[in-house]
Amino acid sequence: MIREELIGVLRSLLLAELSSVELYAAHADVIEEEAIARGVKAILEVEKEHAEKFMLRIKALGGDLPREAARAVTVGRAAGISSGGDVVAMLKAELAEEEQAVREYSRLVGEMKYDEDTLLLFASQLIDEIKHRGWLKKKLSELQKEREVAVKVEYISKSTS
Ligand SMILES: [Fe+2]
Ligand SMILES: [Fe+2]
Repeated sequence: MIREELIGVLRSLLLAELSSVELYAAHADVIEEEAIARGVKAILEVEKEHAEKFMLRIKALGGDLPREAARAVTVGRAAGISSGGDVVAMLKAELAEEEQAVREYSRLVGEMKYDEDTLLLFASQLIDEIKHRGWLKKKLSELQKEREVAVKVEYISKSTS
């Protein structure tokens, strides 16, 4: 990957990170379950750091920041609101972004043959996204179990009344 190509990759990764900052920020505002809201806010802070690190890396390589940065923010916000306040739908939307990030960073870590600083940046962000994915999967399965139990309790109380 030549330097210009790498700057281009970093710029599009920056837009994706900014979009996920907005997605998590929109969800953090509306999730009522305290433990989940806390987890989402913790991920939000990490995504902000990711965006920040890409901005610094782009500048360090002598590149300009993308003009479309503002648009990525709008896309993320729209995706955040369209989940309609359902926490399972919100976590699923976040999980889809994390899966995408894990795939992208894994590929880049494998393909980078020079520029060790950028390679290490991709690798450290890959580890963060794997952790986010793991947390989201765990919370989603807990929520799904809770809902199954709630449905059974409702069924039992209906059939015994
Ligand atoms: Fe990220
Ligand atoms: Fe993430």
